Amino acid sequence: MSAVHKNIVILISGSGSNMAAIVKAAERRHWGARYGVRVAAVISNKAGAAGLEFARQHQISTAVLDHKAYASRDDFDAALMTEIDQHDPVLVVLAGFMRILTPGFVAHYEGRLINIHPSLLPAFTGLNTHQRALDMGCKFTGATVHRVTTELDHGEILDQAVVPVLPGDTAQTLAERVLTQEHIMYPRAVERLLTQMV
Ligand code: GRF
Repeated sequence: MSAVHKNIVILISGSGSNMAAIVKAAERRHWGARYGVRVAAVISNKAGAAGLEFARQHQISTAVLDHKAYASRDDFDAALMTEIDQHDPVLVVLAGFMRILTPGFVAHYEGRLINIHPSLLPAFTGLNTHQRALDMGCKFTGATVHRVTTELDHGEILDQAVVPVLPGDTAQTLAERVLTQEHIMYPRAVERLLTQMV
């Protein structure tokens, strides 16, 4: 048993279902006792992000930084870094955080910044991944957990989940099938990183 002293910070913009899956895994699998790690804070760039309420209910500190309140991307990222660094995180987890991060931000968290992307990278970087997979006639798609580099949706692949594309799928049905797998894969990928840190 180790004392809880290492923090994870999760960044969200929306429903935060991946964040919730990580928080639940941390509780269920006793990350505090096993790895001395806790989810310390959830930070959103949108005040209405549904995941914030979930975080509060789980006694996790929350903060909102509205990117529209900042004059530039650099200003926003500087404020975000200040907020994140209050928790001195061992890991910063992007979970549906819909902002492109500046090179300075990425460099600051080098080695401790990860993301989940809803495609089998390197295919379909960027947005609308499920519709693009359908348009290309893909028979399989999925999701990828990767380290974050300055190039969007690149960086070392840490884990992938493969999902079949079924007849009659829409972007919506495909997104739901992929998301179910994301919720299994992302906590698993985070925990694997934690085992390498203890
Ligand atoms: C997920 O599909 C994730 O792969 C992508 O954005 C979505 C976030 O969903 N980056 P949620 O906010 O975790 O529910």
